Amino acid sequence: MQIRFKAALAAAIGAMLLAAPSAFAQGVTIHGSHAGMKCETCHAGQTQKAAPSQKTCLKCHGSYEALAKKTAKPGEKFNPHDSHMGRIECTQCHSMHATSHYICRDCHAIPDRKFKGE
Ligand code: HEC
Ligand code: HEC
Ligand code: HEC
Ligand code: HEC
Repeated sequence: MQIRFKAALAAAIGAMLLAAPSAFAQGVTIHGSHAGMKCETCHAGQTQKAAPSQKTCLKCHGSYEALAKKTAKPGEKFNPHDSHMGRIECTQCHSMHATSHYICRDCHAIPDRKFKGE
């Protein structure tokens, strides 16, 4: 009896997964402005999907200098895109499928910055 119930449950879950949109079936959601993008836009050329390189992000986002202008705040010397950390990989802070992490705060007691799109 219990075994038959488990089999029915497994079948029901299987059917739900088949009916779900592809992004869900593949276990990922994309945050914010990138939500409608094709997986290949960021993952082209990868045999196994992993964080794309900075080059991929900068194709659309220009340069670290351009980003630094956007996130400069008058009176605040801590700019995530302009610091002694240099031009590190974007994905050290930005996540596209999970939660972003403002790594500067790991060492500095500074105000948090809200990530757009999350
Ligand atoms: C095909 C172009 C494209 C690529 C590739 C791309 N982005 Fe974007 N991104 C956009 C657009 C368009 C926006 C919305 C307008 C803006 O904020 O510049 C955006 C917005 C953002 C935002 C603001 C939050 C939001 O959701 O609006 C962040 C942060 C961001 N992108 C980071 C990244 C990172 C990191 C990568 C690489 C992993 C990346 N982007 C790759 C086009 C792109
Ligand atoms: C040290 C962490 C860190 C790194 C590395 C980083 N970012 Fe950001 N980024 C942030 C934070 C924090 C914000 C939100 C700050 C704010 O809006 O004041 C942000 C905001 C942005 C925005 C939105 C800007 C706006 O106001 O419209 C974009 C786009 C973006 N980042 C893209 C990138 C890209 C592309 C890279 C790599 C070239 C990158 N970031 C590297 C922390 C980082
Ligand atoms: C805007 C760029 C972007 C798009 C579009 C995108 N990804 Fe990603 N993907 C990333 C980044 C950045 C990572 C590194 C982990 C993270 O940021 O959450 C990643 C990591 C992954 C991983 C590795 C597991 C993990 O979370 O680390 C998988 C699997 C994945 N992506 C699948 C997909 C699928 C499927 C799609 C299309 C539905 C997609 N991605 C679209 C940027 C993107
Ligand atoms: C691994 C720890 C660590 C991380 C991560 C880190 N910093 Fe620092 N930072 C330091 C140390 C150590 C100093 C020098 C001592 C000091 O002045 O606090 C410093 C100094 C600075 C200063 C000059 C200090 C002042 O008060 O004038 C700025 C601005 C700064 N960091 C910004 C950043 C930003 C922005 C990020 C993220 C992109 C970042 N740091 C990430 C350790 C770190």
